[in-house]
Amino acid sequence: MDPLQTKHRSREIWGAEVPLLSSGITSLTRYLPISFDRAENDVLYDVDGARYLDWSGGTLTASTGHCNPHVAAAIKAQLDRLWNIHDHPSATRANVMRRLHERMPSDDYVFQFYTTGSETVEAALRAALASVSIRRHRIASFVEGYHGKTKGSLMAVHALFGRNVQPAHLAPLALAFPNCYRCPYGKERGSCGLHCAQVHSEALEADRSIGVFLFEPILGTGGVHGAPDGYWDIVGATCKRLGILLIADEVSTGAFRTGTFLAVERFEIDPDLIAFAKGLGSGFPTMALAGRRELLRDSSVFERESDPLPESVRLQNFRAPGSSSSTFGGNPLAMAAIDATLDEFERLEIGEHVNAVGAVLLAGFTEIARACDAIGDVRGYGLMLGVELVKDRTTKEAARDLAIELYKRCAAHGLLIKVDAQGIVHVTPPLTHTIEHAADALEIFRSCLEQLQSFEGHDD
Ligand SMILES: Cc1ncc(COP(=O)(O)O)c(C=O)c1O
Repeated sequence: MDPLQTKHRSREIWGAEVPLLSSGITSLTRYLPISFDRAENDVLYDVDGARYLDWSGGTLTASTGHCNPHVAAAIKAQLDRLWNIHDHPSATRANVMRRLHERMPSDDYVFQFYTTGSETVEAALRAALASVSIRRHRIASFVEGYHGKTKGSLMAVHALFGRNVQPAHLAPLALAFPNCYRCPYGKERGSCGLHCAQVHSEALEADRSIGVFLFEPILGTGGVHGAPDGYWDIVGATCKRLGILLIADEVSTGAFRTGTFLAVERFEIDPDLIAFAKGLGSGFPTMALAGRRELLRDSSVFERESDPLPESVRLQNFRAPGSSSSTFGGNPLAMAAIDATLDEFERLEIGEHVNAVGAVLLAGFTEIARACDAIGDVRGYGLMLGVELVKDRTTKEAARDLAIELYKRCAAHGLLIKVDAQGIVHVTPPLTHTIEHAADALEIFRSCLEQLQSFEGHDD
């Protein structure tokens, strides 16, 4: 099926782009290069006039709905006043920090602002590694984790883009994600005694070169997995005992994506640093780094008038003046977008809404899975859901081709989904997805899957 056949304008635009574009763009775009023209809340329109319900959520950025009018008005008002003045104080930044501070796991956090997730993760790594002993310069991270594509964030990525290319003494300690659908230790959910947490605690204990553990509270790109209950109690306590700094990468999970402002709220761990979040500015490019005061701040800097250190020394130290700022970080437009996004989160009681719509979708997928063997697993938190397609429920072999066909067919029927190379459908609509549209989208998903895969009524 080629849903692009009738899309003359999209084809024309793609034809003009291809000769000039890096081939490193997202695979799904290459399979289906639809050009989108505009969007409203959870609905997208392409340049050829077709309408789509959106389960991709602008790659998890559309937290208050596409083109949220309140956020758009705040950005437009700021557009006529000031775009960038680099790090000078602003009433909006003060207000944003006050509001974010109220949402942190404790009072002990201060902030720095960045533009992309990779940059923010890198800043977190730099702040953490500047604070641990040189003998503990190595990072631990999950094998299936994703933290960005810049050189620094890739330091912690093991497998998603080929192998980790650092010299062995810098390579991260690899911990297999505690994925209960395919337990890396061959155990069964419920009867394993949290074997994964024991293995990981022992690995962290055994390797005294580890000073930092960077993790996604819920694995996003790596397949939408959460650790089993109790895992973080054990592993978090081990890290605290060993003095290993915890960096939560909440680039995908933060800003209510999983139903709470931060996903770590589910696990009751207080990370030392938190990088967040795609949805923080409703799609306006902006991110925040929150960190414990002693990691991000040297109070004496604010007390002295000039800085005695030479430039070369200063820049190695995250807390020295000028050492952690960036050109666009915290710019007035970004601050206006965050402030208005936080208004909308409150007005819409977004956490409750996310949990309600997420529950409808989860129930819908579970129901569809009863009739369709190609669905091996349904899981997720809030509006970060995963539907895993398999060739066989026993072998759990990934149904990659089916996932691609489903992606194309859903698009042809007015639903934009996101699938990965492991055959997993990632369901991440705008957080303002309506219950009515969720029901409509489920029906499109069900009928497209039924066209590709035989459905039988059974109850397993
Ligand atoms: C968990 C996580 N960390 C970091 C990143 C990188 O963010 P960016 O693409 O904005 O650099 C992503 C992007 O998807 C992500 O999901």
